[in-house]
Amino acid sequence: MTEKMNIGLLGFGTVGTGVLQIVRDHQDKLVHQVGCPIEISKILVNDLDKDRGISIEPGMLTLEADDILEDPAIDVVIEVMGGTGDARAYIRKALENGKHVVTANKDVMAEHGSELLTLANETGTDLYYEASVAGGIPILRTLVEGLASDRITKMMGIVNGTTNYILTKMTKEGRLYEEVLQEAKALGYAEADPTADVEGIDAARKISILGTLGFSMNLDLDDVEVTGMTKVTSEDIQYADQLGYTMKLIGIANRCEDKVEVSVEPTLMPNEHPLSSVDDEFNAVYVYGEAVGETMYYGAGAGKFPTATSIVSDLVAVLRNKRLGVNGQSLVIPQFDKKLKTDEEIFSKYFMRIHAKDLPGTFANLTAIFGECDISLEKILQVPLNEGRLAEIIVVTHGVSRKNYKEVLQKLNETDAVVEVKSNYRVEGVMKR
Ligand code: NAP
Ligand code: HSE
Repeated sequence: MTEKMNIGLLGFGTVGTGVLQIVRDHQDKLVHQVGCPIEISKILVNDLDKDRGISIEPGMLTLEADDILEDPAIDVVIEVMGGTGDARAYIRKALENGKHVVTANKDVMAEHGSELLTLANETGTDLYYEASVAGGIPILRTLVEGLASDRITKMMGIVNGTTNYILTKMTKEGRLYEEVLQEAKALGYAEADPTADVEGIDAARKISILGTLGFSMNLDLDDVEVTGMTKVTSEDIQYADQLGYTMKLIGIANRCEDKVEVSVEPTLMPNEHPLSSVDDEFNAVYVYGEAVGETMYYGAGAGKFPTATSIVSDLVAVLRNKRLGVNGQSLVIPQFDKKLKTDEEIFSKYFMRIHAKDLPGTFANLTAIFGECDISLEKILQVPLNEGRLAEIIVVTHGVSRKNYKEVLQKLNETDAVVEVKSNYRVEGVMKR
């Protein structure tokens, strides 16, 4: 057996403490896998005195990143601090100093992944980031290795645990958004500032990483059309249910020939679609490959031990590469140049909840507007409202281009018969059998 591997941890919060625990608890298995003991030897924190709820040897904690980044005895650095400022700088320095890096940081990988992976390649080091998307689900490895032989054309993911938890509780228990958000924070699913969760940015970072790997094309956060879930109401959820749909925040990446579209938005999923039954903080990624057909990957998308499991598995991959002498060779240069679809090329069904005047001719007026925009309706529901002479009209369109859909929204908002388009959401189709 060779001598032990020394690992430096940058950050010792929820995920960092989970990493130390797993390295300790699974040491025998890890030794069997990599051929030597693994030791977390130094840990960077902000506060030396904080109670971490786990025993550590004296002197393990440090306030100086260079105690890890400049220590020649440390082979691998695990970054679990979060953020993009210090985290990016420390990852760069570790790679420049010949250290391999494992990170759970989707922010840094979505915004600087291409730069950091190129640096790793230049310095002959590994940079792995499985935990950055869908916590404990090994989805990046699945895309890069498991489905390497196929051509992936569609990915749909519930990739944010916080928003899935909130939508599940609103749907199944009729609870209020704000109250459930506080609960998700207390349970440790939400980011310290949950804006990125509820506004869809966290999911957008993850779907851009999935799109980049699945489509072999460099996709940035800016390429993702993002709508958060803060405006979803219990009325929307109830009407969706009446029409046979479940409201989910879905990251969608679609490819048609050489063009792609990537978005995150509250989406009505048919109840019979498997993503509809992914509840609470769980994540799932549905992947369609031309040869394999439909596949789906489900599990815990956040939390101490699920996330730490992915990190320690990446660590095993780095140490196996080291034994084989093949570190720094995992960079896959994207095969395709980025080509994004235009609004004319993006098609979907849509749900609209319209408040209209309950007067003769209103319906004819609305159907004329849909007709002018070349949109045919699949489902219609009308409910009288108690607020004066108003009707609530809910429609689900057949497939329509995003261009025509934007046009109909504008026309509806401009017509006298319509008081307000209260809400509108993308609707996904059922799985092909
Ligand atoms: P956390 O509980 O807030 O822990 C962050 C740790 O980093 C803390 O120990 C903090 O030190 C330390 N830290 C932060 N900035 C630092 C700096 N500039 N210098 C020194 N120490 C610093 O965060 P977490 O939930 O473990 O998440 C860590 C990473 O994993 C993030 O990138 C997150 O997005 C990602 N992730 C988390 C989850 C999850 O379920 N939590 C799932 C997937 C991915 P102190 O403790 O001393 O303040
Ligand atoms: N805040 C994130 C979530 C943590 O809710 O999914 C995991 O990335």
